[in-house]
Amino acid sequence: MSPAPTRCVTLKLATSLDGRIALANGASRWITGEAARARVHQMRADHDVVLTGIGTVLADDPQLTVRLPGFDGQQPGRVVLDTRLRLPESASLLGEGGPVLVICASDVPAHARAAIAAKGARVETLNRFDGPSVSLAAAIDCVRALDGNRILIEAGGRLAASALRQGLVDRIEWFRAPILLGGDSIPVVAALGLERLDEAPMFTRVSLEAVGDDIHEVYLRKVS
Ligand SMILES: NC(=O)c1ccc[n+]([C@@H]2O[C@H](COP(=O)([O-])OP(=O)(O)OC[C@H]3O[C@@H](n4cnc5c(N)ncnc54)[C@H](OP(=O)(O)O)[C@@H]3O)[C@@H](O)[C@H]2O)c1
Repeated sequence: MSPAPTRCVTLKLATSLDGRIALANGASRWITGEAARARVHQMRADHDVVLTGIGTVLADDPQLTVRLPGFDGQQPGRVVLDTRLRLPESASLLGEGGPVLVICASDVPAHARAAIAAKGARVETLNRFDGPSVSLAAAIDCVRALDGNRILIEAGGRLAASALRQGLVDRIEWFRAPILLGGDSIPVVAALGLERLDEAPMFTRVSLEAVGDDIHEVYLRKVS
């Protein structure tokens, strides 16, 4: 596995063969196998921050830490995009691990921000928006200003779609498990709103490898 470059946005996807991340009822753990999941932990170790959306936090309550046997390196920071600050004070990522940054809209009441800050997180506000949500591009600028230059997005279909739609993804690390979940399950990338094929985000595959029972593919953004 090649290390992440010094400045990059990597999108990690772990899906069924048909590009699905969860059943319609939300069941999602675990689609990919242990070897693929160990690779994801290594990938976290190779990035400065792991960035996610509040949808993933509410669905899975992840820690987003590196949990590899014998790992004593630096834990990545965790960043949550959470426009309305729905993050529960009991969220696992507010426990052990690297520093936590929560980005919400500037109209979130100060007392709600203070409650999350009291749990040890840094809370930043943005007044730039992608539709109803805070702007991902502005959030990435904010993370970079804090020296988070290697950013790993581990999120659900909504944040993945925002990142792809805006051309913010340099590299995709895609783990595909030999299971089919069907059209009634949840797609890895939500609506992109494309009207022409030449508007579609394009990538070039640079590697393909079996990892346990899964396939690990790496794609780089195609430069036209
Ligand atoms: N297999 C995988 O690789 C993987 C990884 C992670 C999660 N998942 C699965 O993904 C599912 C959750 O999907 P999801 O789409 O709800 O979660 P998500 O993409 O992690 O979070 C989406 C939420 O993030 C917030 N957000 C803030 N700024 C945003 C922006 N600029 N663009 C888009 N969203 C923004 C929005 O809520 P606000 O407007 O309230 O801020 C939005 O509803 C769960 O089933 C989880 O298990 C799968």
